[in-house]
Amino acid sequence: MKILVTGGAGFIGSHVVRRLVNQYDSYEIHNLDALTYAGNLESISDIESAPNYKFIKGDITDASFINDLFETNKYDGVIHLAAESHVDRSISDPLLFVKTNILGTVNLLNAARMLWLNEGADVTKKRFYHISTDEVYGSLGAEGYFTESTSYDPRSPYSASKASSDHIVRAYHHTYHLPVVISNCSNNYGPYQFPEKLIPLMIMNIMNGKQLPVYGKGLNVRDWLWVEDHARAIDVIFHKGDLGETYNIGGNNEWRNIDLVELICDIMDQRTGNPSGASRKLITFVKDRAGHDLRYAIDSSKIKNELGWTPSLTFEEGIAKTIDWYLSHKEWIKHVTTGEYQNYYEQQYMNR
Ligand code: NAD
Ligand code: DAU
Repeated sequence: MKILVTGGAGFIGSHVVRRLVNQYDSYEIHNLDALTYAGNLESISDIESAPNYKFIKGDITDASFINDLFETNKYDGVIHLAAESHVDRSISDPLLFVKTNILGTVNLLNAARMLWLNEGADVTKKRFYHISTDEVYGSLGAEGYFTESTSYDPRSPYSASKASSDHIVRAYHHTYHLPVVISNCSNNYGPYQFPEKLIPLMIMNIMNGKQLPVYGKGLNVRDWLWVEDHARAIDVIFHKGDLGETYNIGGNNEWRNIDLVELICDIMDQRTGNPSGASRKLITFVKDRAGHDLRYAIDSSKIKNELGWTPSLTFEEGIAKTIDWYLSHKEWIKHVTTGEYQNYYEQQYMNR
């Protein structure tokens, strides 16, 4: 099997690439990533010399590059994670999200279609796996859960771009019989997440004695999932999911933002020897995110019942591991926040 993973230098993609490279010696894993601000090859430096792994720097919005790549490599499968992923950035630059998340996905679909359908390959052995988000379903009130049949109601430019890409993936299945599968996941947390997202931003700011910006009153709710559990779900769905199907993935782990930030403060005080309550004093309520979705919560019974996947880690274990990881990876934080991560690519790859 020759598999193309897109976005494998990003947060979730790095965990997916590591898992596939370590689990499947006989596969050839190609990691295609443009190395935007969110992609850092240091996040997967441990597997970069593996014989079944290759990194390719490239942009999914460049159609002719993507077509050549597929033609040359004749991929058997695609696991598509590359995207612009941060809601706040989508509010200030929606067009970039349309370009990357919609156009980029269409380019990959077209290349897979040309390769698999024109050559008359046995498409039941091929697979285009599109990784998406629970945000496509919109916002919940205090009760209820998103299921695979919940109607789409995206409300930010980010979620609208992801919803659009989900629809186009399904359209290629319906129209051309492209062998696709989709999953929609809740909020991930863990090592290697860019510190613009809530959990690593709060950890980093506490480390630097900076204010902790909580949007609105901090009452919005998210369902948090350990990133390695998402990577394992992706492995399971890629290998066992039914073509044309959608699987919701969630942590069954809802937290109000303010409660989560206070928990992070208390663990940080314990780890750093700060007086109890010191970090909580940094909490600052700031202007709310425009169009801020109130609550996301996933019903993952389909993947549990049909594919046997459940989360492995309690949140208490996962958040402690996450905090300890950031405390012991200050260089990684410095490199991604200053742009120095690009030096690593130049040193490791430019002379190869
Ligand atoms: P991320 O922002 O950490 O990583 C995205 C990666 O895509 C980066 O390595 C970046 O360099 C790459 N990329 C961006 N534009 C590209 C382009 N034009 N060409 C090639 N590569 C490009 O994102 P993430 O949080 O790891 O999310 C990965 C995927 O999972 C996304 O599709 C996202 O929508 C989805 N998702 C994320 C979460 C979450 O909680 N983070 C939850 C559900 C679904
Ligand atoms: O639900 C899945 C989605 O989760 C993914 O598709 C997205 O790619 C991912 O970024 C994430 O989106 P959120 O907007 O939920 O994540 P974020 O970490 O940006 O924010 C989590 C919550 O915390 C949200 O309610 C906004 C709030 N927040 C966020 C930041 C960055 C704050 O209160 N303060 C902040 O500084």
